[in-house]
Amino acid sequence: MFAFAPDPNQPKPELYADLIAAARALVHDEPDGVANMANLAALIWQFLPRLNWAGFYRTVDGNLVLGPFQGKTACIRIAAGQGVCGTALATGETQLVPDVNAFPGHIACDADSRSELVVPVWRDGQVIAVIDLDSPEPARFDAEDAAGIEALAAAIAPAI
Ligand code: SME
Repeated sequence: MFAFAPDPNQPKPELYADLIAAARALVHDEPDGVANMANLAALIWQFLPRLNWAGFYRTVDGNLVLGPFQGKTACIRIAAGQGVCGTALATGETQLVPDVNAFPGHIACDADSRSELVVPVWRDGQVIAVIDLDSPEPARFDAEDAAGIEALAAAIAPAI
């Protein structure tokens, strides 16, 4: 299959460029969105250090339903506007949360989570899913992570 060898110590822009190139290769010519999300969740998990959860929630009838992921079992349904993920869906904007305990309505799926990054995946003018990353480390994610995952979301949107 594919053998990716990410170097988590390289500068973030390079790490995300490598992640996105690997993601494009993974989904190339594969029309099954579930298979692609499953492989992409595994790829993110492999590339990005210090995560305790990484995966997708899909927009179904205006709300979010759990998709493929890596990490502990998670909440299955999240209403638009609820928690970090539902806020990303309702606003269409990336949510960069350095301290989940300070985010009103944060949904604690894994008690280990301390910081979170949620990025909407847009296709044809709609948010079709969100990519959710959780870390046990406070303020794990910064603007470079947000830009990297936004670029990843744009790259894989046609394939999920
Ligand atoms: N913390 C998220 C819920 C999903 S889990 O982190 C996997 C939220 O507040 O929306």
